[in-house]
Amino acid sequence: MATIHFPDRFIWGGATAAFQIEGSTTADGRGESIWDRFCATPGKVFNGDTGDPACDHYQRWREDIALMRDLGLHAYRFSIAWPRILPNGTGTVNQIGLDFYDRLVDELLATGITPYPTLYHWDLPQVLQDQGGWPNRATTEAFVNYADVVSRRLGDRVKHWITHNEPWCISFLSHWIGAHAPGLTNGPAIEAAHHVLLSHGMAVPVLRANSPDAQIGIVLNFSPADPATDSEADVQATHTHDGFFNRWFLDPVFRGSYPADMLELYDRISAGQPPIQDGDMATIAAPLDFLGVNYYNRAVIKANPQAPLGYDSVRPDGEYTDMDWEVYPDALRRLLVRIQNDYQPTRMLITENGAAYPDTPSPTGEVHDQGRKRYLAGHLAACRSAIDEGAKLEGYFVWSLMDNFEWAFGYSKRFGIVYVDYASQRRILKDSARFYRGVIHDNGFTS
Ligand code: FCB
Repeated sequence: MATIHFPDRFIWGGATAAFQIEGSTTADGRGESIWDRFCATPGKVFNGDTGDPACDHYQRWREDIALMRDLGLHAYRFSIAWPRILPNGTGTVNQIGLDFYDRLVDELLATGITPYPTLYHWDLPQVLQDQGGWPNRATTEAFVNYADVVSRRLGDRVKHWITHNEPWCISFLSHWIGAHAPGLTNGPAIEAAHHVLLSHGMAVPVLRANSPDAQIGIVLNFSPADPATDSEADVQATHTHDGFFNRWFLDPVFRGSYPADMLELYDRISAGQPPIQDGDMATIAAPLDFLGVNYYNRAVIKANPQAPLGYDSVRPDGEYTDMDWEVYPDALRRLLVRIQNDYQPTRMLITENGAAYPDTPSPTGEVHDQGRKRYLAGHLAACRSAIDEGAKLEGYFVWSLMDNFEWAFGYSKRFGIVYVDYASQRRILKDSARFYRGVIHDNGFTS
């Protein structure tokens, strides 16, 4: 038995995203997003699932905040749906859309929960996609305008802003691998990534101006990796994987440059080059108040000269979640320590960590999700160890507060600590939610 205790004032939160929970995709003047279009495209999303009904949070937000209070959350990370605010991406502001988030923020604050909105969690207005989307430089201006509109309205009360969620997914997963909207394969991912990063840097001063004393950050997803063997080739391939997922975003944000080895590799394989204009890199490297870290699993890498980037991921023996993602908490410890040492962020927050398991309520209506409880305990212990080793980690947001629309997997994957019965919209606290409530209450746990 080991007792794990967190530093005083550690922030305990829960995370969601607009398209994954809100539903009501055509209500109150909301415009079409690239995810509505992707869902409507046959074969893209499991079972033909769509953003409706999701968790019907657009109607049930008060009930959901009561749930957060019941769990004792200090903070709530949610995202704002750009197409609710600016149905055409730019132009006329839809006040009813802004009103929704205004009420949400007020109710959170009245409940003692700190709002951490993310401006972009993947639901680009379709109109902007029709004009080229993220590979088009003009989308950066549209994003900054959107950030300005939102922060003018909420900036007096919201004091923690996240610009983007997971630029790797917005760019490579969506424009190269094609698994996410807009679903392009071998498309202009490098251009998209540059404009996402640029729009982040451009939005930072706007958020600071509209939201005095705010803390501003970006959320990156990480894929820490180990070589399959200690051969030189596998070690080198692992460094490339790190460049593809991690350094490609960390280096610009913290150092104002792209990693030279990756620029060279993308050039060699004709994948493209970032369309850098004068001043872009300094803009991207705007000083931040925190880095949001999303972590789910590690990768194990084997060199393969035939593969596009010169390597494949292999699947080691081990414990796996319903996403077929390995459960490997120690990689989170190493990741946090490495980011601290290599990039010196002022502070870090785990903005997502969690696991999907195929939960079903028992006949008496309980959800005994032992796997998720173990996953959370293991990863929280890894966080504590990283803090001991010098990582400036100041908070943890579990993904997710409740089961929701898991992108291309539709409703088939359940990440929530709260179970959602989509037919009745009933919420049920899983055992992991009770565990997490205890962790928050005790600021730690005994394992
Ligand atoms: C992350 C996303 C989040 C959720 C989790 C499982 O990549 O940011 O919305 O889908 O994965």
